[in-house]
Amino acid sequence: MAERVQRLIDRMRDDLSQVTPSDIRSFDQEVSKIPGIIKLTLGEPDFNTPEHVKNAAIESIKENHTHYAPSNGTPGLRSAVANFLDKKYQLNYTADNVIVTVGATEAIWTAVSSVVNRGDKVIIPTPIWPMYIPITKVNGAEPVFLDTSDNHFVLTPEKLEQAIKENGDSVKAVVLNFPSNPTGMTYRREDVAAIAAVLKKYDIFVIADEIYSELTYGDKHVSIAEYLPDQTLLINGVSKSHAMTGWRIGVLCAPAPIVNQLAKIHQYSVTTATRVAQDAAQEAFENGFEDGPEMKKEYQQRAQFVYEKMTEMGFSAHQPEGAFYLFAKIPASWNVDDKSFCHDLAYTNKVALVAGSSFGPGGEGYVRISYAASMDNLKEAMKRIKENVATRG
Ligand SMILES: Cc1ncc(COP(=O)(O)O)c(C=O)c1O
Repeated sequence: MAERVQRLIDRMRDDLSQVTPSDIRSFDQEVSKIPGIIKLTLGEPDFNTPEHVKNAAIESIKENHTHYAPSNGTPGLRSAVANFLDKKYQLNYTADNVIVTVGATEAIWTAVSSVVNRGDKVIIPTPIWPMYIPITKVNGAEPVFLDTSDNHFVLTPEKLEQAIKENGDSVKAVVLNFPSNPTGMTYRREDVAAIAAVLKKYDIFVIADEIYSELTYGDKHVSIAEYLPDQTLLINGVSKSHAMTGWRIGVLCAPAPIVNQLAKIHQYSVTTATRVAQDAAQEAFENGFEDGPEMKKEYQQRAQFVYEKMTEMGFSAHQPEGAFYLFAKIPASWNVDDKSFCHDLAYTNKVALVAGSSFGPGGEGYVRISYAASMDNLKEAMKRIKENVATRG
């Protein structure tokens, strides 16, 4: 029996051997067993979903909206998404440009697996939320990593164009994620315009993950879809903006003829997203314009607190610009790599951070702190990190 199972595993698709389960989730699970640990590991808002959104879901159940929705999402939600993106970021989408997905994660899966053939290349600026890497590999494509750590984690147009020229026609897509997980940096209008000017010259898809667009601390978010509406596959959702990670609603937007193609992978993967959750998300997009900005005020205070404490202790970091992460560099003089530091901090001082090397080239030597945690927990965590730091040269 066991032998047959092993033989069957050996016959599973080759690409599976290219990927391993998520580093972040396995570390999170491992350290969850440590009593009293403070985890600043997951990108999960600590706020609850706003009341008006929860009430919309309750109403939806009472009205027996318990059946399949249309595959691309309910017309009401798709219109609400288009309207929200237009009002907030001046994007000229209509319902026909929108697919409602199972979280932003399914939008990523649908986007990548709809565009790559075996052997194609996907340009991925790093450090980046790691999910992009296995999704690219499991689809038989190859990531081309561009380390952005030498330019405050913003991809330069020169580096991008050089990679496109070096890899030629095999480049199918470039991934852009800003505000960024894990770096907490974002792209200003001039950065977006400069990157767009390069990409406009090529028939390359731009997979733009703007899930943190409502959480910018300086200028308003600028979407690359404003500059490149024809080639952008825009990913957004309610997980971060409306504290709705558990509802699993994301969106994928593109020109309508491209939506018709993306809809095939979406339909054959999930049929449709959960109907009740779609009604809740519609309420969030229609009447929750201020939900994100309200939470942002809190995040910004925490960002400043964590930034000040960490830099006082000797870490170097950029002022946080968005999302809810601080990416802090461990001083070289401590002579410790990021994984060992995080391991020691978790087991000795009971604080869990994610090692920067989990986020691809350029992340080595950093730690990521998710400050989507209560101020009490952040204060205690900073105290404990200080105790660890006191033992180092
Ligand atoms: C950059 C980025 N994209 C996508 C996601 C996934 O979002 P969702 O929970 O809606 O699938 C995350 C979650 O951490 C993220 O950080």
